[in-house]
Amino acid sequence: MTNHDEAAERVQVLRDEIAQHNYAYHDADAPLIPDSAYDKLVRELQDLEAEHPDLVTADSPTQLVGATPTTSFAPVTHRQRMMSLDNAFDADELREWAAKLARSLDGQAVPAYVCELKFDGLAVSIRYENGELVQAATRGNGKVGEDVTHNVRTIADVPQTLKGDPPAVIEVRGEVYLSLANFEALNAAQIEAGEKTYVNPRNTAAGALRQKDPTVTASRNLSFWSYQLGEVEGGPELTTHHETFELLKSLGLPVNDHSRVVSTVDEVLAFIAEYETARHDLPYDIDGIVTKVDSLAMQNSLGFTAKAPRWAIAYKLPPEEQTTTLLDIEVSVGAGGQVTPFARLDPVFVGGSTVGTATLHNQDQVKAKDVRPGDTVIVRKAGDVIPEVVGPVLSERPKGLKPWVFPTECPVCSTKLIRPEGEARNRCPNYQCPQQVRGRIEHFVSRGAMDIEGFGESRVDLFVSEGMLADVGDIYSLDFERIGAMEGFGQTSVDNLASAIEISKERPLGNMLFGLRIQHVGSTVGETLAAGFGNLDNLMAASVEQIAEIEGLGPIIAESVHRWFAEPANVAVIDKLRAAGLNLEGPEVEDVAQTLEGLVVVVSGGLEGFSRDDVQTAIKSRGGKSPGSVSKKTTALVVGENPGASKLSKAEELGIPQLDEAQFVELLASGKLPE
Ligand code: IVH
Repeated sequence: MTNHDEAAERVQVLRDEIAQHNYAYHDADAPLIPDSAYDKLVRELQDLEAEHPDLVTADSPTQLVGATPTTSFAPVTHRQRMMSLDNAFDADELREWAAKLARSLDGQAVPAYVCELKFDGLAVSIRYENGELVQAATRGNGKVGEDVTHNVRTIADVPQTLKGDPPAVIEVRGEVYLSLANFEALNAAQIEAGEKTYVNPRNTAAGALRQKDPTVTASRNLSFWSYQLGEVEGGPELTTHHETFELLKSLGLPVNDHSRVVSTVDEVLAFIAEYETARHDLPYDIDGIVTKVDSLAMQNSLGFTAKAPRWAIAYKLPPEEQTTTLLDIEVSVGAGGQVTPFARLDPVFVGGSTVGTATLHNQDQVKAKDVRPGDTVIVRKAGDVIPEVVGPVLSERPKGLKPWVFPTECPVCSTKLIRPEGEARNRCPNYQCPQQVRGRIEHFVSRGAMDIEGFGESRVDLFVSEGMLADVGDIYSLDFERIGAMEGFGQTSVDNLASAIEISKERPLGNMLFGLRIQHVGSTVGETLAAGFGNLDNLMAASVEQIAEIEGLGPIIAESVHRWFAEPANVAVIDKLRAAGLNLEGPEVEDVAQTLEGLVVVVSGGLEGFSRDDVQTAIKSRGGKSPGSVSKKTTALVVGENPGASKLSKAEELGIPQLDEAQFVELLASGKLPE
């Protein structure tokens, strides 16, 4: 077979495959593969067609836009075609695009570009006549879309009547999308109802927009960004794309704030680099950056290819979803006995790193996602967020795969697992489970607690498995001679370990209390207890009520602390620590300044220097309030690692100041918001 024949054959295979994916994506709203894999197929087809131009046909997917309209909604013929965008996958391709533009413009470089976010939703065209919304349509195949007027009318962002001085006719083009907060809320409700979860916001938005019943669409809380015009009659004369944004805004249409007019390709690349990171702070998904030539006269002279404008390009950001094989589902046991299911994956590069394991959160989530060992699954990793399995690719499920069953026994100690009423987590109730023992000791020696240098996880593991450590009290009677004889230990490392352990005896009582891993006792609560009672004996003798009376503490903490010290096994540990000569005296009591009197500080995400309980105590002990959600009354939102999308978007909506950890610490001290 000749090279040409092979190419012709491959072109046919690719076209069939792409057509199948187009249908799955646009019509069935159930994509079979992630966008990145789809892009690869299209890329391969484009390359083959470029090499063999005679193979190009008018109906090749490279010449068509998107889907064929289905019959369920009335067809709408677009008066101006709704085009797609060409893609650039790296900086070179973007520079090449700009160079090509310059060549078409008689060697003159484009003087200004507009960089915009590429929202991961679906394109619609909304037509207003004399300021009234008259029709809304999906893109469909670019020429003919579907009439979704009734559904688009339910979107709160979309005005029924335009403000200001609207042109006689104006077609507004933009993206319908589902915010991350609304997506999460929807999935939480699905899990609550024992239903399957939705895979991603885009497909959920697409499904919502194509509902027969507009009340269902309304219940999904879709949003909209406008970014382009179709047919326009009347209205002001526009000369640049950024003036289009001004016009859209003046008419009361939602225009995203994250666009920027720039003058060079380097600045375009800088914008892209910025949003490769900043995308994770946005309350909605984006999948790229769109760059458009700002001058409308230049846009006109550049024109269109069969599929896309020459004056715009989409830079695809690295995909945060990939498919891979789910090899197995296992469970891990945490220091507190919590049992967490996780996926063992065929390693896959996603969201900037290779991922071999991904969390499945808890039993209900595995059930709602219905992922089974052997499935091809979609894995998502966004920024620093831990990778998770979002769902199976059902079309690729091998026959006969059985649903995964949550284990009934602890994988470490074989104790029967329990799931306390109202809790999402299963747990191993065996306090002596070796995994829990290891976890507690690791916590005790860690930074923020007793901070014993050189006492890492592997050493804890070793000493526990050698039977030298059964609880944290044993740390202070370790047999260093025996350790010295063990493999991997020289005299220096033994001496260093011994002196690090010795030094830890002088740590403040608050650190020790934190290190004991009493439920609800973070480092600030530990300090508060130490300061409030002056020494360990007073604390151990205190009643629940006496503990609850301490400023910054409450009945839940008090109950937990009291219960811990009532446990004979725990008292035995304390006896060992006492015998070893640890510092059991608290600091001199001093009053905490009431810097946050009357302030409401909401915290979202993890902070480095505070546990969840600490944050609450730090705020409350200074007279502030810290409810679980953002409202008009919120003074500031403290944003840590992996903040909740709903709090972020609410704070953004209400214009509530957002603080990082350093600014929060400042606020605690001064009671003033940073300038
Ligand atoms: S402009 C003629 N701007 O990306 C140019 N499109 O891959 C029309 N999209 O169909 C598109 N954000 O659904 C444009 N800021 C943005 C966009 C955007 C998302 C979508 C749109 C389009 C697709 C092309």
